[in-house]
Amino acid sequence: MGSLKDKIIEERLPQHIAIIMDGNGRWAKQQGKMRVFGHQHGVDTVHEITKACAELGVKYLTLYAFSTENWNRSSFEVDALMTLLTNALKKEFKTLNDNNIRLNAIGDLKRLPDLQYDALMSAIEKTKNNTRMTLTLCLSYSGRWELTKAMQEIAIKVKNGVLNPEQIDEALISNSLATATMPDPDLLIRTSGEERISNYLLWQIAYSELYFTKKYWPDFSKEDLYEAILDYQGRERRFGKTSEQIKK
Ligand code: IPE
Ligand code: IPE
Ligand code: MG
Repeated sequence: MGSLKDKIIEERLPQHIAIIMDGNGRWAKQQGKMRVFGHQHGVDTVHEITKACAELGVKYLTLYAFSTENWNRSSFEVDALMTLLTNALKKEFKTLNDNNIRLNAIGDLKRLPDLQYDALMSAIEKTKNNTRMTLTLCLSYSGRWELTKAMQEIAIKVKNGVLNPEQIDEALISNSLATATMPDPDLLIRTSGEERISNYLLWQIAYSELYFTKKYWPDFSKEDLYEAILDYQGRERRFGKTSEQIKK
């Protein structure tokens, strides 16, 4: 049996894929293991999916790794996730460079412990000239946090007289977000069967195609990614127009 990869139409590849990597805890629990075991295996999936996206020619891959709300988990789990982050950065640094992938991170990064913050900044700096794909890790991130911060920045500009309220338009708001340099996601994937957004990229996903799969993140494979992309390619993105207008 051939790979689903061969069916993907290159010209209609999503430029930007965003993923809510969910289900690590349940994956571990179903095997009678600790939640952290699931997170460890989740890192292997990140490796596989990142490589697969780069090989396909996807330009932006944005992964929800740790949300603002995830700070409310037990300190044991939070610490384990932080340790996994530094280990993964160390281990995957070569993969990023070998595959010409630029690392980026968005979120309230100042909340990260110094060790994690420094490791992240160093990996970002060392991969900054890579051009094949941008991998963005969303850490201590939430859409409402991002929008609140953007509103504060805009309000300060208005207060200081460098911006008129009439100049506030959609482009200005987009450019005030942490994702300013990226196009909006074409495809948003969530694993684990949950069908919700959980405070992810609220502004940016206005017209993204949503794809939900029951697979837990550690079980999500390259073939599952290809299946999601094929599903995406079978859809008609109308952006408010009619089907007839699109086909013209
Ligand atoms: C996703 O898996 C990873 C993070 C949120 C850090 P979960 O840890 O949410 O796993 P479930 O949803 O409890 O199974
Ligand atoms: C969303 O998953 C955040 C990440 C994947 C990092 P959660 O597991 O935290 O989301 P909820 O709480 O089920 O909505
Ligand atoms: Mg979850």
